[in-house]
Amino acid sequence: MTAKHKATVLIVDDDQGHRTILLALINGWGYKAAGADDGTKAVTLAREKPFDLILMDVRMADMGGIEALKEIKAYNPSIPILIMTAYSNVESAVEAIKAGAYDYLTKPLDFDVLRLTMERALEHVSLKAENQELRQRLVSSFDPKNIVGRSEAMRRLMETVAMVAPSEATVLITGQSGTGKELIAKAIHFNSPRKNGPLVTVNCAALSETLLESELFGHEKGAFTGADKRREGRFMQANKGTIFLDEIGEISSAMQAKLLRVIQEREIQRVGSDNALRVDVRIVAATNRDLKAEVEAGRFRQDLYYRLNVMTLTVPPLRDRGEDVPLLAMHFLHKFAEANRKVAKGFTPQAMDMLLKYDWPGNVRELENAVERAVVLMPGDFVTEKELPLSVNQEKAHEEQNANQLIERGPAEILPLEAVEREAILAALEVTGGNKTEAAKQLGITRKTLLAKLQR
Ligand SMILES: Nc1ncnc2c1ncn2[C@@H]1O[C@H](COP(=O)(O)OP(=O)(O)OP(=O)(O)O)[C@@H](O)[C@H]1O
Ligand SMILES: [Mg+2]
Repeated sequence: MTAKHKATVLIVDDDQGHRTILLALINGWGYKAAGADDGTKAVTLAREKPFDLILMDVRMADMGGIEALKEIKAYNPSIPILIMTAYSNVESAVEAIKAGAYDYLTKPLDFDVLRLTMERALEHVSLKAENQELRQRLVSSFDPKNIVGRSEAMRRLMETVAMVAPSEATVLITGQSGTGKELIAKAIHFNSPRKNGPLVTVNCAALSETLLESELFGHEKGAFTGADKRREGRFMQANKGTIFLDEIGEISSAMQAKLLRVIQEREIQRVGSDNALRVDVRIVAATNRDLKAEVEAGRFRQDLYYRLNVMTLTVPPLRDRGEDVPLLAMHFLHKFAEANRKVAKGFTPQAMDMLLKYDWPGNVRELENAVERAVVLMPGDFVTEKELPLSVNQEKAHEEQNANQLIERGPAEILPLEAVEREAILAALEVTGGNKTEAAKQLGITRKTLLAKLQR
């Protein structure tokens, strides 16, 4: 830890004399130390305050050190815990390491060793955090320049994003499917003070009610059939970061009630547990439904709607921002050309015209897919109208439709046999210039039969 931030240390020991010495010593080394005299208090304190390091005695009257360690690790897996144990009790040290302790120290403590071990533990954590941050930057494709758009609507939207991102406010993102709601959610997270924390995405529509509850809040071992281990929920994973609840309009009314509680109390309960756990998350939700209409129809709780709706961002459909189409098309062209190792210089004027005329019901995602397909198909350096899907290439679609209609007309349209016969005879007479013998030959009947039919 650097000088700009004094690392905080929690000392857990039921021996008051020992605790006092450690407090004085550790504060003297430039840390900010606090004490707890048993495991239960340690768990409570660690839950209230995010300590950087915990120093924990094993044998304590109330809750033992290892049990406390497990409790703390369960909701804060990254906190380093150093165990202090008597030399005669090294088995407990092994058990502690297995349960996730960073290291152990034997008593009586060698203070130089203690100091070094503490420094190492803190450095380890900050390195790990840095790595995580780096990894996250690589994994997330988010970068403001990846959000393409020069239209008035997009510019205004990005201004609002810049305004709400730094706050803690819950944000609701609405917009049709494929408009870029998830991208906006990422923009909010990575422009917020929580950007170094996790961004956890949950698609609420993808899971059944029971699964969604345990996915979001976690469950205890044995909470239901198949729950053979305790499981951390997505809310806890998002601690100190942002949770993105996608397709929020799809959740059941029971889940709506549970979610409302989390938003109000910032506490969650694992399935199968009565304990409330504090969680520090920012909530961003998205839906392609009109939530207000859902509220009016009685399908969505009004109180939850108000909680979510603190800040609403609406991503406009692509057809309302036509000037973004060429920009987005070029953006995706470069992206997929690179991915497919192809040279792609642009679109022919006819192809671009079609992109501009089309109304994009599937929005940016549909455009992205159309361009990806075109890049794969294109033989030259430019995307032509031939590589565009039928939905976009209306002319080609019409031609094909006509062709299909011609093929379909015969079997589809049923005429009485007599009429068909009449048409055939007239056609034969026409092509043969009225020559009955020739006409009969072409029709595959005798001249006599033809004459009889003509009579009729
Ligand atoms: N302005 C933009 N600039 C660049 N890429 C974009 C933009 N908007 C959307 N995209 C891309 O379009 C695709 C769809 O966007 P996204 O998944 O964010 O949409 P969505 O609104 O969440 O859709 P759905 O409602 O279907 O989940 C993604 O690949 C995204 O990267
Ligand atoms: Mg989405």
